[in-house]
Amino acid sequence: MDFYINTHKKVASKIQATFGKQEEEELLYLTNQEDGQGYTLLVGLGKERDLTFEKLRNSFAKAIKKARTLKIKEIVVKKINFNNEAEAKCIQAIVEGMDLALYTFDKYKTTDKKQEKIDVYLEDIEDEEGVRKIIVETLNVTTSIKLARDMINEPSNKLYPQELANRVMALARNSGFEVEVLEEEEIKALGMEAFLTVGKGTLNKPRLIVMRHLKGGDKEVLGLVGKGLTCDTGGYSLKNSESLMYMKSDMSGAASVIGVMNALAKNNVPQNVIGVVATCENIVAGDSYKPGDIIYTMAGKSIEVLNTDAEGRLTLADALYYIIEKEKVTKVIDIATLTGVAGITFGGVYTALLSNNNDFYTAFMNAANKTEEDFWRLPIHKKYHKYIESEIADLKNTGGSGGGTITAGMFLQEFVKELPWIHLDIAATAAVDPPLCEYTPKGGTGVGIRTLYELIKNK
Ligand code: BES
Ligand code: ZN
Ligand code: ZN
Repeated sequence: MDFYINTHKKVASKIQATFGKQEEEELLYLTNQEDGQGYTLLVGLGKERDLTFEKLRNSFAKAIKKARTLKIKEIVVKKINFNNEAEAKCIQAIVEGMDLALYTFDKYKTTDKKQEKIDVYLEDIEDEEGVRKIIVETLNVTTSIKLARDMINEPSNKLYPQELANRVMALARNSGFEVEVLEEEEIKALGMEAFLTVGKGTLNKPRLIVMRHLKGGDKEVLGLVGKGLTCDTGGYSLKNSESLMYMKSDMSGAASVIGVMNALAKNNVPQNVIGVVATCENIVAGDSYKPGDIIYTMAGKSIEVLNTDAEGRLTLADALYYIIEKEKVTKVIDIATLTGVAGITFGGVYTALLSNNNDFYTAFMNAANKTEEDFWRLPIHKKYHKYIESEIADLKNTGGSGGGTITAGMFLQEFVKELPWIHLDIAATAAVDPPLCEYTPKGGTGVGIRTLYELIKNK
């Protein structure tokens, strides 16, 4: 999708947003009477004083999808009267809504591919310079989100750990961040037994992907850790057929981290961020791990495996410990499709959040309030700790009846020591069906990328 500013080009179709007359997000489309060709898409924004950027995203997303159905290839966006200060921000929301809405995953369709390219002409822009800058920056972020969605939607026979690493290496070359991919022997030498154990029973061997964007001089280093299960069958604690269907997306946390790294590099953001993804497959084989097994972690703690389907926390325990010990980050955020109950609780709307640090939490929520992505903090209470204590090892990998999403997060907390930490359980929000907003189609969402980018940029 290409955007042009103040070209005064004659284009047959236009999007006209209106306040008041139309209900919020209501869409009317009229054939242009003058020349008999082209359309006017009239989108309602609701009451002017209630306007939010989220309404702009959704309304323009709806309009551009309609334009696609009408096979419109060029469209003029007539500016509404935002106040001057907010012009660039409003354009940002409009670009986000339109560019993300047109995403499709149809690479495996041999016919019926959707037309994706629409040229958009933004007219009556006052701050040309500012708007041009914000469009470039925004498209680098939305492109990164679409790359993340591509990885999430890719089936696990096409996207396995080495292929994920290949994609990251290609992005790194293109966008200018550093990447290092560690193979089994090196991972073993680091002592990451928990991570290796999860990925043991497959020919598609585990990889540790380390991404570095160090453009912030002597500023602090933020660590991002993403869960990277390219396939999670549950292992011997096998999932049922319905749940199995969705587990190609169990690397959504990794996809979000990769998306953020790509956006930071593309936009040359002057901050220090290191991303780590411990990627593997959890499948059933002769040498897969079994319920009852006891394994060690890189941190030295022993874990009794009660359920091989609670594998994410095992890989993350080692990835978190690695990023703190070896990469020397001073704050860390992990993002993971960790617990199915997060989906049951929040039903595709909120990402569950746990944190051990109120200041860090507040900074994160300030960013989230700007991007209007939804997060909800769950409590950490030491009483829950009982649920993850094992009689024969230091910890066990399931909380049994005890607060699924909370105990999973608290299990991870054991591996971050006192460092400011935020845990994002995106099991509810990483992939959606049905979609709950206009600019996120069914499937991978790329949740968290906009908020993490916003947080890092303003650090
Ligand atoms: N990847 C799943 C969590 C998940 C479920 C994500 C549904 C997205 C949609 C995770 O590895 C898992 O299986 N967790 C178990 C934990 C349990 C055994 C304690 C779960 O949620 O059932
Ligand atoms: Zn699992
Ligand atoms: Zn999983």
